Amino acid sequence: MAKIKRIGVLTSGGDAPGMNAAIRAVVRAAIHNGCEAYGVYGGYQGLINGDIKRLKSHDVSNIIQRGGTILKSARSTEFRTPEGRTKAAGVLRENKIDALVVIGGDGSFTGARLLIQEHDIPVVGIPGTIDNDLYGTDSTIGYDTAVNTAVEAVDKIKDTASAHNRLFFVEVMGRDAGFIALRVAIATGAEAALVPEVETDLTDLEHFIEKDYDPNKSSGIVIVAEGEKEGGAYSVAKKVAEAHPEYDIRVSVLGHMQRGGSPSAFDRVLASQLGVAAVDALMDDQKSIMVGIMNKEIVHIPFNKTIKHTKGLNPELLNLVRVLTTR
Ligand code: F6P
Repeated sequence: MAKIKRIGVLTSGGDAPGMNAAIRAVVRAAIHNGCEAYGVYGGYQGLINGDIKRLKSHDVSNIIQRGGTILKSARSTEFRTPEGRTKAAGVLRENKIDALVVIGGDGSFTGARLLIQEHDIPVVGIPGTIDNDLYGTDSTIGYDTAVNTAVEAVDKIKDTASAHNRLFFVEVMGRDAGFIALRVAIATGAEAALVPEVETDLTDLEHFIEKDYDPNKSSGIVIVAEGEKEGGAYSVAKKVAEAHPEYDIRVSVLGHMQRGGSPSAFDRVLASQLGVAAVDALMDDQKSIMVGIMNKEIVHIPFNKTIKHTKGLNPELLNLVRVLTTR
């Protein structure tokens, strides 16, 4: 493989707090290794459109603490087509960019893998999504911050829930995965976590609430992942309300607030480590891999593997929610 001299970096898919810290790390690590760094604005669509700018060290100053992504993000339908990827590869060649770092989730890595296969351009991925649903890393960039944001919000909801003796169904993000829901449920002392990975048994939930939700207890919180199979918090709340008209039920959907805000220290450090690891991997002639951290060690996972496998929820944590609501 020819020596890499110019490295492009882009953010793709849903943004996640800590993406800026990762961009900063990629740019600085590239310069540290004697390369030039180029920011691609607007994800894969920006790449197709040639929206590219050289980034020097000072261009990424003062961004480690900022949420969102200075490079903007997008989901490109054009890049899903072979023609779109051919255009993207042409733009990379015109700009003499030898390799790409893609910060995003599994959809972004699927696109990256096709770009490598069709055009032989080395790409290394950095896991950036609040959902934490990527195989091959214990944590994705943004997950810790999103959990902390949701915990702060649920603590506040608990105050008003207690004031009115209400049962709240709080919906958190997670289209296909319950990582946020499970962690938030444990951290807020919720009654239950309803997640896409486990079928929601409404009868069981009702019995559980009946048995364990003491009407004299000042509040009840059930955390529902967005992708929960009964249809999310509104749908579950409606069914429980029909079976238990005696409960004073409310629903709160936290939504995109979970994607914003200043990244936690954990996410900043994780993003910094993974940004440097991604450039190191390119310097070591790696291509078609995602860098991750497992058991505190940097790992290289082939895109193929992270796309194909699903990271499961920890059954011990699922059990913990039950144990800790014992009365
Ligand atoms: O993938 C991250 C995520 O925040 C999911 O949890 C959520 O379902 C989705 O993105 C929302 O996407 P959009 O911002 O396009 O509505």
